[in-house]
Amino acid sequence: MKLHPTPESPTLVMHNMASLRETAGQPVIKFGFGQSPFPPPTIVIEALRDNAHRHDYTPVAGIPALRQAVAAHHKQFDLIDCTDKNVLISAGSKALLYAAMAAFQNAAVIIPAPAWVSYGPQAELIGHEIVPLPRMAGKDWRIMPDDLQRAAEQCSAGRDKILIFNAPGNPDGICYTAEELQALAEVARKNDMLIISDEIYGRLHFDDAHISMARFYPEKTVVTSGLSKWGGAGGWRLGTAVVPEGLSGLRDAMLGILSEIVSCAPTPIQMAALTAYQDSPEMRDALARRRSILKAVGTHSYEVLTSAGIGCTKPEGGFYCFVDFMPMQDVFAKRGIKDSYGLCEILLQETGVALLAGQAFGMAPDYLSARLAFVDFDGRAALDAAKSETVDAAFLQKYCGKTCQGLAAIKTWLEGLK
Ligand SMILES: Cc1ncc(COP(=O)(O)O)c(C=O)c1O
Repeated sequence: MKLHPTPESPTLVMHNMASLRETAGQPVIKFGFGQSPFPPPTIVIEALRDNAHRHDYTPVAGIPALRQAVAAHHKQFDLIDCTDKNVLISAGSKALLYAAMAAFQNAAVIIPAPAWVSYGPQAELIGHEIVPLPRMAGKDWRIMPDDLQRAAEQCSAGRDKILIFNAPGNPDGICYTAEELQALAEVARKNDMLIISDEIYGRLHFDDAHISMARFYPEKTVVTSGLSKWGGAGGWRLGTAVVPEGLSGLRDAMLGILSEIVSCAPTPIQMAALTAYQDSPEMRDALARRRSILKAVGTHSYEVLTSAGIGCTKPEGGFYCFVDFMPMQDVFAKRGIKDSYGLCEILLQETGVALLAGQAFGMAPDYLSARLAFVDFDGRAALDAAKSETVDAAFLQKYCGKTCQGLAAIKTWLEGLK
């Protein structure tokens, strides 16, 4: 048999290692797995309960009313000019990202490093050429227009070019300004690229100020999102894509692929999503509380880690910061730690804190880095408390204590190594 080399996702491997430790009775602080700490909003759970009896398949593109609601949502919050005809719903945005790439034959896919763990393996499975686009600490981990141009020039001639873009970012929490997006859009336009803009953390911009790439490159940007992150419903599997009007061929090709591999997103979940996508006072309040807690935890994470003498992206949205241990490279070398997997393993053994190694995000193995998902706290309790209490330092210690402990443990460990 000649099989594709598709090892288990490194995110899950780390999660399993941490779980094994826990089963052996040793405490673990789980900063490795990027799952929302919050449950779905109550009105959305109630909508799911009310629709549990629905069992028919839906159209592959999704229930028309949901597609309309998703289009209205992106129009209102992201200023994307779209209608239900531009929207595809499927079982998670992962399936839509795959379908968008698989719709092309022999494309060149430009993938930033670091980037979320699944873009590369998806492009590889499809058989596309992969062109890495390095992001660097010295450039604040941002994609620079010059670097994007260089990557475009590295794509083999005759191939369609696809840029994978993601902000707020996983693994970094980085968001881009309108000017930065505009500059990247200009390079994309000049090189006739398709941008797949993964905006799944968009509604979790800490200041509710997400800016979509589609505003600057509307003609060739596919925006993906869904309920997994802001809706706290990763296991429900509800993803969305907005495909520009002028790319109806791409939309149809995606639909064809989805019809062969997924059929449709689960019907009761689509009905629940209809409630999540309504701009109701309940949803606004639910999202505002989630954002304020994440902003406080994300900012605290950044402050603790940078005060320990290592680098860290300053998250502006989502659940993550990207930690750069290279300022302590010599100290680690003395302990025989030479790669990011080794670093995460020793950190887990000596502190009980689980991070996910930078290597999983496409960084060179010897670049000592890791993603920290600041989500190991009881999201339900924190949400309830945020109804009546101010989200400040005391709140964090009280309701996000485990996360604070984990951060403090990393700092103490690093100081002990020096
Ligand atoms: C950046 C990013 N994109 C996409 C996904 C996949 O989301 P979904 O649950 O919609 O498939 C994730 C999930 O971790 C993610 O972090």
